[in-house]
Amino acid sequence: MTACSRHKIAVFASGQGSNFEAIVRASLAGEVNADVALLVSDNPSARVCQIAREMGVETFVFAAKDYASKEEYERLIVEHCRQREVELICLAGYMRIVGRVLLEAYRGAIVNIHPSLLPAFAGAKAIEQAVNYGVKVYGVTVHYVNQTLDGGEIIAQQAFGYEGSDIEELTTMIHKVEHKLYIDTIKKLLK
Ligand code: GAR
Repeated sequence: MTACSRHKIAVFASGQGSNFEAIVRASLAGEVNADVALLVSDNPSARVCQIAREMGVETFVFAAKDYASKEEYERLIVEHCRQREVELICLAGYMRIVGRVLLEAYRGAIVNIHPSLLPAFAGAKAIEQAVNYGVKVYGVTVHYVNQTLDGGEIIAQQAFGYEGSDIEELTTMIHKVEHKLYIDTIKKLLK
């Protein structure tokens, strides 16, 4: 990645899109030296797709069941990313394991955010997993992506204390931490 030109990133998401929205806002505000050139989503009815349309971000939305294999839809994803000269892929609640085709095309350039202090509580419903375990220190991780679920080298983590068990309150706290940590990390990666 070059130092001064404006970079192109793609965000992959399957759900609510709060991280996607925060990244797009940071991009529009010039806080991040990159344009969000593409949203990739595997869930046509996800709120994130609506947000992308409202914010004028191009989308590639697919249903995995329409393809014979992960390789097939990932080849299309790579094509869409390359057409837009995407340099960095940011997973933000993309609930699929990334496969060989994407990992090889974007080696070392796919990152993910996860709502726990990995390697603890990987997988779905990480916040609930942590609450059920009774942890007192929560946190967020940004990591490089490999072929394992929420695996890959850790880039950044932020921890905070919380003694309650209100999942809604905790989720709001986690999202706030995620948005800041993800944007700060993306900025560093693009430098
Ligand atoms: C975020 O909390 C993100 O860390 C999590 O999904 C949520 C998406 O929220 N990702 C994972 O659990 C990955 N294993 P959002 O759609 O509001 O950004």
